[in-house]
Amino acid sequence: MLKFILPAFVLIASCLGSPVSQNRRFPNDFRWGVASSSYQIEGGWNADDKGESIWDFLTHNHPEKIVDRSNGDISSDSYHQWKRDVQMVKELHAGTYRFSLSWPRIMPGGYMNHVSTAGIKYYSNLIDELLRYNITPMVTIYHWDMPQRLQELGGWTNPEIIPVFKDFARLVIEMFGDRVKTWITINEPWHVCEHGYGVDYMAPSYNYPGIPAYLCGHNILKAHAEVVHMYRELFQQRQGGRIGITIDSSWAEPKDANSAEDREASERALQFYVGWFAHPIFSKHGNYPKVMIERIRNLSKEQGFGVRSRLPEFTQEEIRRIRGTSDFFGLNTYTSNLVTSNGHNNTGNFPVPSFNHDMGVVESKDPEWPGSGSEWLKVFPKGMYNLLMWIHREYNAPEIIITENGVSDRGGLDDYARVDYYNLYLSAVLDAIEDGANVRGYTAWSLMDSYEWKVGYTEKFGLYHVDFNSPERTRTPKVSARVFAQICKTNTIDWSYRPTLDEEQQLVAMAQLPEEDQVARTSGASGIMSWSLTGLLIVALFR
Ligand code: NOJ
Repeated sequence: MLKFILPAFVLIASCLGSPVSQNRRFPNDFRWGVASSSYQIEGGWNADDKGESIWDFLTHNHPEKIVDRSNGDISSDSYHQWKRDVQMVKELHAGTYRFSLSWPRIMPGGYMNHVSTAGIKYYSNLIDELLRYNITPMVTIYHWDMPQRLQELGGWTNPEIIPVFKDFARLVIEMFGDRVKTWITINEPWHVCEHGYGVDYMAPSYNYPGIPAYLCGHNILKAHAEVVHMYRELFQQRQGGRIGITIDSSWAEPKDANSAEDREASERALQFYVGWFAHPIFSKHGNYPKVMIERIRNLSKEQGFGVRSRLPEFTQEEIRRIRGTSDFFGLNTYTSNLVTSNGHNNTGNFPVPSFNHDMGVVESKDPEWPGSGSEWLKVFPKGMYNLLMWIHREYNAPEIIITENGVSDRGGLDDYARVDYYNLYLSAVLDAIEDGANVRGYTAWSLMDSYEWKVGYTEKFGLYHVDFNSPERTRTPKVSARVFAQICKTNTIDWSYRPTLDEEQQLVAMAQLPEEDQVARTSGASGIMSWSLTGLLIVALFR
């Protein structure tokens, strides 16, 4: 099988535009990392004096909203297994570990009146352990687990959140800033706002299209800016760290590259997804993108909202205060969409009003793009290149750190599809670097299998497999972990490096299978490999 796969793989990669017969090397100072987030891995949901988060609340009160009715009560149990986590980062030769702080673990009710000593100690130990192994902590202050008590006040839709978030950020910077030199204020504001408030994909599950997501975005931008100003005024010089934000987007590929309308739809989609948060911070003049301001103002008027747009307005002072508040551009990206214009008759059938209707873009997937374990995630490496170059051009060559990228499957240690994904997406990153994009680091998602929000434990993104049935949540490296470790260690993509499962991995893989399958199956590599490679081959040959 391998004999067939390698030449096919070389052919695919060469069709995708990279010189493949040779290994590809990253710049010497390129920084490699792996990522996770608190609710997804920690468990210990009520350990010590931890407070309830919106995800505790959602999963406990509405298990029917989670595909497998599961929750993050124990998850990968990193609240207890953190030493093993650090060991894994070390095994991967990753220089950076990106993790997030659980706000309700540190401030159980969200406010300063109650700070948990146990919560502080947990993160302090983790940071010390990382430093002991020479691993740089990259800390996300907010990765989606809002204290439930603050949600009861409206969460991000209530401007009260701005000073309260600033208090939380100030406390953690005071506690950990002597050792943490890279801070990310907020992970994926688009997801927080549109998927939390606009549609019912994420806690707090509002399902209220067209209005609260924009209030959320407005407050998030202000809260982010206040934290960055506070850091710059009080800490940055003394502590010598950096602070930024992580923005997420898929690449928007015009459905018909020859259609001016589709190319316009692509540009509009990028302004609505990336620009909503990036334009106020990274553009020359700040504020929301013009196309967003105008479209939402006009549509609001047509819809009878009067002269006040559903997209709130910033004052000049606020525009100035938000602009420039990021030392780097943190980017999370996984996939691409084909886009075309929604047109005046709402062919996309979007609710009115809604974010999608405001954007006026209909999205689909190219059936030729290989799939993954997630419906929404199709493999199109060129999208990575295109998105990086778009950001590079749009915001005047900011320093970019890819804070998340990776792929899901439905389980297994022989994850050659993930190996292919990393090789191809990283090759696309290198293409962008060679064409001038200032990409300085790459943090793979994810260190280990964990709680994938509303799809529970059904979709796996980990480099390490986690046995969710064992009390200690045993972690075992997948094939992709070996490949990623090699990349981090050598700074190089080596197309021919495709290790097979070692003995320990095979035992673990067997134990995962139902008994009747354990005899029938010796190695499952070929099945996964063939679908991924066949798919890529098709894409490559028919582009
Ligand atoms: C982005 C999010 O930050 C992370 O929490 C999630 O698991 C991955 N996307 C994969 O869906």
